Amino acid sequence: MATNRTFTMIKPDAVKNGHTGAILNDIIAGGFKIVAMKYTHLSAEKAGEFYAVHKERPFYGELVDFMSSGPIVAAILEKENAVEDFRKLIGHTDPSKAEPGTIRNKYAKSIDANAVHGSDSDENAEIEGNFYFSAFERF
Ligand code: CMP
Repeated sequence: MATNRTFTMIKPDAVKNGHTGAILNDIIAGGFKIVAMKYTHLSAEKAGEFYAVHKERPFYGELVDFMSSGPIVAAILEKENAVEDFRKLIGHTDPSKAEPGTIRNKYAKSIDANAVHGSDSDENAEIEGNFYFSAFERF
């Protein structure tokens, strides 16, 4: 059964290009409540740990380099059917295939610099949220 929480990061490209506020607006306008939020900068080691599931993929090295290249915003979001609805809000992983109006369509440039991350399952949403936030940082 679907849970009501997902996890997101606003990635270094979107932060650097000044889209943090607009993306948070889209998230809130999309009906999501922010349960936890943090502005931080991942080391290469922590980025590698976060994306360990992709370790064998050819893009892993670039992904780790990119995700540790600048600050990010991490957040836990709440809404009914959160994982699926958030993936609809952000659009396709490759921004050139993202539907008009989606966050990646509006703010992303490439499959690497794709503006935001969204959990792909309830199980990963839980794991990813726990990577960043303790119980005392959720409201
Ligand atoms: P994200 O949702 O953060 O999960 C893994 C990331 O790897 C993905 O977004 C993309 O930014 C990046 N990536 C780079 N190349 C690929 C690819 N060929 N397929 C999927 N993800 C890729």
